[in-house]
Amino acid sequence: MARPVTAFVDGRAVDVAPGETLLQAALRQGLDFPHRCRVGACATCRCRLVEGRVRSLTETRYVLEDDELDRGVILACQSVPVGDVRVELEPAATRARRAPAPWRPPAAPADTRRPARLADFLKYSLFHGVGLVAAAALVAGGAWISAGLLAIVAFYVVGDALCGDDTATPEYARPQPLTLQLWLALPLVALVSFAATWSVSSGDPLGFGALVERWTGFDALAAREATTLGHHVSAWLLTGLMIGMVGTIPAHELVHRTWDPVSQAIGRGLLAFSFDTVFAIEHVYGHHRHVATRDDPATAPRGRSVYRHVLLSTWRGNSSAWRIETRRLRRRGHGPLHWRNAVLRGHLVSLALVAAAWAMGGAVAAAFFVACGLLGKALLEIVNYMEHYGLARDPRGPVMPRHSWNTNRRLSSWSTFNLTRHSHHHAQGEAPFHELRPLPDAPTMVAGYLTTILLTLVPPLWRRLMAPKLAEWDRNHATADERRLAAEAVEA
Ligand code: FES
Repeated sequence: MARPVTAFVDGRAVDVAPGETLLQAALRQGLDFPHRCRVGACATCRCRLVEGRVRSLTETRYVLEDDELDRGVILACQSVPVGDVRVELEPAATRARRAPAPWRPPAAPADTRRPARLADFLKYSLFHGVGLVAAAALVAGGAWISAGLLAIVAFYVVGDALCGDDTATPEYARPQPLTLQLWLALPLVALVSFAATWSVSSGDPLGFGALVERWTGFDALAAREATTLGHHVSAWLLTGLMIGMVGTIPAHELVHRTWDPVSQAIGRGLLAFSFDTVFAIEHVYGHHRHVATRDDPATAPRGRSVYRHVLLSTWRGNSSAWRIETRRLRRRGHGPLHWRNAVLRGHLVSLALVAAAWAMGGAVAAAFFVACGLLGKALLEIVNYMEHYGLARDPRGPVMPRHSWNTNRRLSSWSTFNLTRHSHHHAQGEAPFHELRPLPDAPTMVAGYLTTILLTLVPPLWRRLMAPKLAEWDRNHATADERRLAAEAVEA
């Protein structure tokens, strides 16, 4: 049976319970141990292992430098001691130079704190309902597809305009059901993608149409045959929207859970539908470090159109993920083509999905699946665009709420697992979605998520709407340096 061990941190003894990380044990016993993200992404908790062995919960080679690995540096938040250990912290002056003090949310007012109720769980299943409606519309065929698309778009645009903000911050004593809700996104995206692929297949793959008729009496095969080109275009838009909304958004939350292999695997599986498993690398270890700086592919400078941004951010994001991954492999002594390369493995999963679509319905079905996935990927880049457009940060400073556009529109927040609370998400990347604060004083997006996505698609209108927002950001949020950096980054 596992027994408690002792960790000596700069000579001070700390009892470590079985399964506990060094950081957890140190904080529990009141040690002032430097830390920030607690999930192995920021390296603030780095310390040198002088004696003993630790089990690492995540791949620390993503964040530690070669010379640090050579010197035996470990991440305390990801290290479970195996027997007694002795570690040394960096001198305080080095730490301060390396990591500026992180932002922390103010304490929630006492009158807003309350235990989570059933409705606080159920609201995050709104998107499951929307995904099922989309799948049903795809199977129903014909005008139902276009009607389903219009209904979903109208639901979010009108609903966000009418339903106000959700600023509730309930406390979830047992958040496990929320994780299950996130995991359920995988079968849901698979179902929507299957229905979409089936809708353009020849024949009746897996006898799906016959099965629908047996269960419901509805002749899905006849409805599919009667579907016109215009409604197939709607199917493409609807499926791309669902891959982005029902797939990528839960995936975003899951791949942030670097310590949880099941969430990681499901998150990467979801991203495979949009050919974007590299997001699991670039977003966590690239975007979150460099957000609102020139080194961040996902931050659009002022003046750039969304169309240019989708292409640039896709190319630069993939290049960045490749650099991060090959550097990690090099630190393990492997070449870039090693089977452990997560970029290549992720693309292989996407290829397997294309092959499955081909097996279902031939070349047309495979091409349709690819088109839907690419649209889902474009949607992610549009969301990146509107979340950080025109903002700037001095790379030496901490990430603050002012470096992201925030919105608390109710339907958007419920359907995106609070991705809308983006200001807090970036300022404290380790916070799970249900702990994110609404921060109503943060820079506010022009509208709810789907409405804002549509507005970005008309660049002159977008620039006109964002001009007063950016002027307000310059006036009330930015530092002098940030104003200068934002002005220098402008694209004609
Ligand atoms: S606190 Fe350990 S890596 Fe961020």
